[in-house]
Order: sequence, then structure tokens, then C-alpha cells
Amino acid sequence: MLESGRITLKEYESAQKGDIFDRNEDEIRAGRIGSMLGVAEPEKINRLQRIAVEESRLHIPLLIGCDVIHGFNTVFPTPLAESCCFDDELFEQTATVSAKEARAAGINWIFAPMIDISRDARWGRIAESMGQDTFLAQRYAERKVKGYQGDDLSSKEKIACCAKHFLAYGACEGGKDYNSVDMSFSKLYDVYLPPFKNAIDAGVASVMTSFNDINGVPVTTNKRLLKSLLREDLGFEGVVVSDASAIEETVNHGYSANSLEAAKNALDAGVDVDMISRSYIDFLEELLKQKRIKIEDIDNAVRNVLRLKIALGLFDNPYCDEKELAAISCKKEHLNLAKKSALHSTVLLKNNGVLPINKNKFKNILLIGELGAKISENYGCWAFYGKDEYAVTLKSALEKEGVNYAECYGVKKDFDEQEFKAAAANADLIIATFGENSSMSGEAHSYADISLSKPQKKAVRYLKNSKIPFISVLYNGRPMCIPELDEDSDAVIEAWQLGTKAGEALADIIFGRFNPYGKLTTNFPYKSGECPSYYNHMSTGRPASSNSAPWTSKYDDGRVKPVYSFGQGLSYTDFEYSNLKLEKQKNFVKVSVKVANVGKVDGHETVQLYIHDKFASKVRPVRELKGYKKVFLKRGESKKIEFDLPYDNLGFYNENLEYVVEKGEFEVFVGTDSLCTYKAEFTL
Ligand code: NOJ
Repeated sequence: MLESGRITLKEYESAQKGDIFDRNEDEIRAGRIGSMLGVAEPEKINRLQRIAVEESRLHIPLLIGCDVIHGFNTVFPTPLAESCCFDDELFEQTATVSAKEARAAGINWIFAPMIDISRDARWGRIAESMGQDTFLAQRYAERKVKGYQGDDLSSKEKIACCAKHFLAYGACEGGKDYNSVDMSFSKLYDVYLPPFKNAIDAGVASVMTSFNDINGVPVTTNKRLLKSLLREDLGFEGVVVSDASAIEETVNHGYSANSLEAAKNALDAGVDVDMISRSYIDFLEELLKQKRIKIEDIDNAVRNVLRLKIALGLFDNPYCDEKELAAISCKKEHLNLAKKSALHSTVLLKNNGVLPINKNKFKNILLIGELGAKISENYGCWAFYGKDEYAVTLKSALEKEGVNYAECYGVKKDFDEQEFKAAAANADLIIATFGENSSMSGEAHSYADISLSKPQKKAVRYLKNSKIPFISVLYNGRPMCIPELDEDSDAVIEAWQLGTKAGEALADIIFGRFNPYGKLTTNFPYKSGECPSYYNHMSTGRPASSNSAPWTSKYDDGRVKPVYSFGQGLSYTDFEYSNLKLEKQKNFVKVSVKVANVGKVDGHETVQLYIHDKFASKVRPVRELKGYKKVFLKRGESKKIEFDLPYDNLGFYNENLEYVVEKGEFEVFVGTDSLCTYKAEFTL
């Protein structure tokens, strides 16, 4: 049983006097709780461990689980933001620091990485994911697991992690959280499963089942998915934990007749740990007496959990050093990494030359909008443990540069015309923040309309009419529909929720101390009704070549192309691609291309490689990412970039769920984003 330890301040204070904690403590003493969720204070954790180890009958230490999703005391960019750096090393480094800080707090198990392919921007949890691409998700999954766990879980710097949510949670109908998924198994295997395979191959300690049903069977009670696929085919030997109350919720699904049946169904399917619902603790004994479940199945679940506790070294020492967290939390190198990851996750979406700002040209710069002024807006979802004293907002960073601030409007707060007129009277350049509040993405925050709020649309109109040039800085957990920002602003910076050092990083980019290079990992549709919008959609019989092409696959009131596409992101310099060559080898094609920095400043580029299988026994996506490489080029410098494209990576699952690589012609596109047209072809 995994019990929630999250309580409000009021509950905590009352717990000090005796109630809530007594309940958990008594349960731990009685051996009825084997793990806790969301307790994050070293003293509290040690107290609970002491009760488990010294006062319970079997003296078994607790797993202390926590949602450390993008940092602990040091907050890194949200996963969707971080994915835009396309930098495997960085994926691992931020996980390494998160593990160190969380383990120092006494936490030994975290519920990350979230590796749900997310193609619907209405889904609030897209913020927790690495976007819409399977190939990127595979690399991300692997490096996150390495960073969190390393080679030795008993190390006081490493932590057990959890690949979630198994499976296809991101494909919930209409982007509505917790909703159903109905799809072919071949699509499930092609698109949603691969990152879990990578996480498992990298040794992930646990897997969390998702809330959704797939084709009518809730995943948490789905034998085919959890036993045949996860355990047998993928060979997963670690802990399977349900999502919060997901076992009990199979009753709401109308799949389990009652809580007792839910417990039976989940155990039969192979769920080891019941998160929060109490179905196991309340009903497994009875089910055993009724001989409806086997003791071997309970033993197996217990064995899986005990193996993890042993690997974590909890039987040798379940306690944390209560001084350790204070010693390492937000230390300099962690904050430096927070800054680096913020810099590398920012995406420049539009620039008519106003950026980087030339201070000789613009003397009176004004920042407006609520989002750049609040620490909470740096953080995004699941950042409960960030230390505000180290956080830098855009407002505080820009004030150091002599930029003035006036709020003028918020996401929901109406645009104040008088305040704007007064503040902007002398301004020669405006930096305006747009987007959504941190609380608008993450779990249970799906939105049917992901365009700018009314006050923000009004702000855009005023800014446009003012004729003062303006730079839009977007704070958001999800892609948003922002055609007006693209049309009317002089520059658009996608600032996501960049974590502790958001403001400093943005100021460096705005004033040209860092040349941005982040690339989007999701499309930004033109209208909400175009969701899901993803670059790697299937080829149709009537592809739309333009907004007006009749009888083609498109919306009459939409746009064929999203406002921004996967892989897009600008730099302050320009890159030129030439000499694309393909050389067929025994098991792979060697792809080489020359990339030159032909602009005026040094910069990074993420070189992207896409394929298109031109003809196959099953319809294939219009494009698929199959490689990326980050390269740093000084101005005037060029480099030959090479990729090995294995033939094995060119296949797909057929209707019999066999992975096949079919002979035929393939196009290989190499360039700066998913729209690139520079290509070569080969025949397999
Ligand atoms: C529900 C979420 O779906 C899951 O991602 C999280 O880890 C658990 N709650 C625990 O907080």
C-alpha cells in the first residue's frame, strides 16, 4: 500500500498535535503501509522510517515516493520546455541533480520520467512530456533513467525512478484528461510503446500504470498489457505501481464490479503496489480466504517491492542525513545547470531583427504583463519544492538592465488602458508577456480553447495600435494558438516555464549574451479545433497543399500549416546546408551533410534528420524524425555532420504485431526543422 503523505499546512499543524500523522504512523507500525507519497522533509521521513524499521513486526523500511518531475529545490524547465534543447547530455544532467537533491531529502523513489507521447495541446499534461515525437522520447527516456538511477541505486546520490504512464495516456480522447483511448495495437506499438522499451532497457526500477482504458480495458487491470506485453515481451522485472486510486477507479470505469473485484483484477494483471486506493489492503486478505487469488501472486508483488528496497540499500540504512539537504540544495553548480537548461530550452519563434536588443538604439524599454513578474510563473506544474529565494523572474532580471515594469494586464486580469498609456508614454520598445498561468497546465488541466485570453488579445490590439515595436515572451505549459503574436509582434520568444533561473536566462537571450537555438517538440496549431496537430501524421489520399485547395484533408476555417511546426526554432545567426550524401553500408545508411554558420555570430544548431517511407504495405507518416545532432559553429565555420541510420529503424509493426522493415524507396530530409526540403533518396 502506497499512502499519500501530502497534507495542507492546517493538517500539518493539527498533525503536530496528534491526528493525521497518528493515522499514518499507526498504519506503518501495523505494517499496513509499505510506501509513502509526497513526504519531502528529511526529519519527517526519518521519523516514519524509524517507526517502520523499529516498531513494525517485520522491520521493513519504507519507499518514500515523490513527484520530482523537473527538479526538486532547484527547478529546471518543465519537461516539454527541456525537450526543446534536443540535448541528451543535458537530459541526463538535470536528472542527476534532481536525484541528488531529492535523495538528500530522504526520498528514494520518484515518479518520473513521464514519457507519454503527447500530440494534443489541449491535454494539460503535455507540459510534463517531451512532446509529440517517439524517436526523441526514446532518447529522453534512456537518459533520464541513467541520470536518476545511475548504476547503483544504493548510492545516496541516486534514486529509483518510474516510467509513466503505461500506456498511451497522452492519447486520451479529445485531449481530455483521464479519458479513453481506442487505437490499433500496431499504432500503440509504433508510437506509444518504444520509449517504455528504452526506459526498461536502461534499467528503470518501476513503471506506473495509466488511468485510461485502452480499447475498453483499463490499463491497471489489463493482463494483456501488463503481463504479456510489459512483463513477458519487454522483460520488465521491477515494480509496477498503479496511478493514484487507479485500481479503485476501475469500478467507475464499470470494469470491476466493486472494490474487491478491482483488487483482484489488478493483482491478476500484475500490479504490485496500490497507490492510495486501499483496495489491496482492504480486500486481498479476503480474496485469499475465498481462494480467488493466489498467494504466489502476492508473494511476487512483495518480492518485486523488496528487491527494490534492497537495491536502494534501505535495509542497510533507511535514514537520510538530516543536514545533507541543506548542504547541497540549490548549490552553485545546480543553479548554474538551471540557468544552462533554461537558456538551452528557450525557443526563438520570430525575429524581424529587433533581437538581440541593441541598448544604443532602444533607451526606454518597458516590460508589461503579469507573467514575467511572478516566481510561480517560472515553475510550471509539479514544482512543489522550488526554493523561491533563488528564483529570478523576468521582471527582476530586466530591472537590472534598466527596463521599467508596469503590469497593465494579466492572463485573466483585464487590460488597463490608463496604466498602459502612462507607462508606455516614453517607451521605444515593449517586452510583453503572454500565455497561461502555471496552474493552467499539468494534471486535470485540459482546455478546449488554447488561444490567448481576452485581456491578452486586447493587449495585442493596443500594442499594435501604439506603433511601438514589441517583443512577445510566451509563458506556457502547452503549445498555444497564437497567430496574432506571430503576425503582430516584432519577435516571439517561447519562454515556457523555465524554472529557477528563467529570468536570468531570458535576459541573456534578449540582450544577446546567449544565442538561442531551442527547437519545438510539438506543433503550435492555428486554432484549438485543429488539435491534435502533429508533424508526423499519416499520409492521406487527399493531402492539402494550400489553405484553399478544395476537396483535400483540411479545415475550411483553419490553416494547412500550423503557426509553428515541430523542430522549428531560430537563432541570431543563419545556417546553410549543403553536400547531403547517402552511402549505403551493410546495416545502415551513412548520411552526411555540411552545415555552415553563414551569419554574423557564433551559435548552436540542431541538425535534424527525417525519413519518409514512400510506399509500404501500411500507410506511413509523412515524415519521421530519425536522428538529431547538436553542433556549435563559430561564425564562418562549417562542419561535416554524420548520422548512421540503421535499416532496423526504418520499420513498423504490421497488423500481426510483427516488426517489419520493408524493402523500397526512402526519402531522407536533413535540415533545420521538420519543414526542411533538402533531401536525398535511397532504395533498400
Ligand atoms: C497522479 C498522476 O497521474 C501521477 O503522474 C503522479 O505520479 C501521481 N498522481 C502521484 O502524485
